[in-house]
Amino acid sequence: MFSSFVLSAPLLLAGLQAVTVGAVPTISAVGSKFFYENGTQYYIKGIAYQLTPDDPLVNTAQCERDIVRMSELGTNAVRVYHVDANADHKGCMTALADAGIYVFVDLDTFTTQIEQTSPHWNETQFTRFKEVLDEFQNYDNTAGVFVGNEVLTTSNGSIAAPYVLAAARDIKAYRDSKGYREIPVGYSAADISELRPMLQNYLACSSNSSERLDFYSLNAYEWCGESSYSVSGYNELQKNATGYPIPIFFSETGCNTPAPRTFDDQAVILGSEMEGTWSGAIIYEWIEETNDYGLISYGPSVSNAAATNTLVEDGYTRQGTPTPISPDFTNLKTHWATLNPTGVVLSDYTKSTSTITVPSCPKSTSGGWAVDASSPLPTLGQTYKKGDDSYSATGTTGSAGSAESTGTSTGTSTGKSNAGNAMMVAGSATERLLAGSMVLTTLLGAVAFWL
Ligand SMILES: *[C@@H]1O[C@H](CO)[C@@H](O)[C@H](O)[C@H]1NC(C)=O
Ligand SMILES: *[C@@H]1O[C@H](CO)[C@@H](O)[C@H](O)[C@H]1NC(C)=O
Ligand SMILES: *[C@@H]1O[C@H](CO)[C@@H](O)[C@H](O)[C@H]1NC(C)=O
Ligand SMILES: *[C@@H]1O[C@H](CO)[C@@H](O)[C@H](O)[C@H]1NC(C)=O
Ligand SMILES: *[C@@H]1O[C@H](CO)[C@@H](O)[C@H](O)[C@H]1NC(C)=O
Repeated sequence: MFSSFVLSAPLLLAGLQAVTVGAVPTISAVGSKFFYENGTQYYIKGIAYQLTPDDPLVNTAQCERDIVRMSELGTNAVRVYHVDANADHKGCMTALADAGIYVFVDLDTFTTQIEQTSPHWNETQFTRFKEVLDEFQNYDNTAGVFVGNEVLTTSNGSIAAPYVLAAARDIKAYRDSKGYREIPVGYSAADISELRPMLQNYLACSSNSSERLDFYSLNAYEWCGESSYSVSGYNELQKNATGYPIPIFFSETGCNTPAPRTFDDQAVILGSEMEGTWSGAIIYEWIEETNDYGLISYGPSVSNAAATNTLVEDGYTRQGTPTPISPDFTNLKTHWATLNPTGVVLSDYTKSTSTITVPSCPKSTSGGWAVDASSPLPTLGQTYKKGDDSYSATGTTGSAGSAESTGTSTGTSTGKSNAGNAMMVAGSATERLLAGSMVLTTLLGAVAFWL
């Protein structure tokens, strides 16, 4: 949903930053769930936070003012759509970490985002994505990164999906080559009914973990006003996410018509209906602006503000003391205060991760999902050309045994190899996490002693 701004050219600030902020446990994706280092499951109670188009995480004083209210709300995550990779984020990231708030950050800019029309994935985009990862891997409270937000927005947009996955493949490989911790790499999807559940499954169906996302998330505004699990359609979302092999959550939610917003969907997402499958939700959004989704405001609309007033952009003041929007802010706060799913403990969960399987890759169909999942992913530098989708080739792609074809057929051998692969992946991530947990315990012991 984030749109409205024209991004100015990023400032290139010289200088290296040596940053380590270590006071907060990291978040890992294991199987279909997120965990803290101590093995407790992590559920997102997040807020979309983008006060200024370039980067809201550079104004430490503003972050600190906002964090007071975020903590009052019970927030444990923010999502930031655009950052300046070359800016200093230490002040805001430290303040967020101190409040137990994690950050999901989008890697792209308006000029480097993956496009739905004539999609491509090239060196310029990859360089930018790497720069953001280089910066944010410094912070233990970076919970995940997005390779795209709503790249696919129309029913015929599926041809862009391989480019999203190619970006994920390359940024994961880069992360690993640099020896960074396994910061989960995911995608934030627009809620396009014609693409459900194909997109969700396509991005997680490869038997090769290097070629699937680490998490998937959905921007969904299906629950509006007085609704329910079944009326909203969430029951269908739940059905199609059951057994999904990687974490899935709402990367935006919070329909605003009719007003006021009750956020009753939180009780279902973080309640018995969905907590076993979904990892929580990010509410759109922190600041009140023209689209009227704000939880707080820094003042009324000032559409006639002087162009020289840099505190105002797009008719709204973008810093100051946050004032809650009533009753929306309190409605959300009240829900979150009562919703504390505990999920599963990592050591119990790992006993079952070997049974996780990837979904079948969606079959390409003329006029529908137009991607043949058995085709190789785009290489860096590739641009879509008509014919790349080659849906006419469906039916000739079942060559048994090849990694690419796994999941496109429903044969038993496919299922087995999927399961084996999932087990290996979950196992190795878990070992690292458990090792980290021991280190943390030791460190905590040392800190306690030191204090
Ligand atoms: C694990 O860590 C989280 C985050 O610090 C904390 O909320 C949770 O209570 C801890 N769990 C246990 C069992 O100590
Ligand atoms: C990548 O694509 C963008 C257009 O989206 C273009 O401006 C840029 O020059 C391309 N980079 C390379 C290395 O081709
Ligand atoms: C999808 O449909 C729209 C509207 O009909 C069209 O403009 C666009 O080019 C189509 N996209 C693709 C990838 O075919
Ligand atoms: C898995 O995918 C990665 C990235 O595309 C590739 O380098 C690797 O060879 C693949 N592994 C297998 C077993 O196919
Ligand atoms: C769930 O999946 C089925 C196909 O398996 C599809 O027809 C349906 O539209 C999907 N529903 C949702 C809400 O994604």
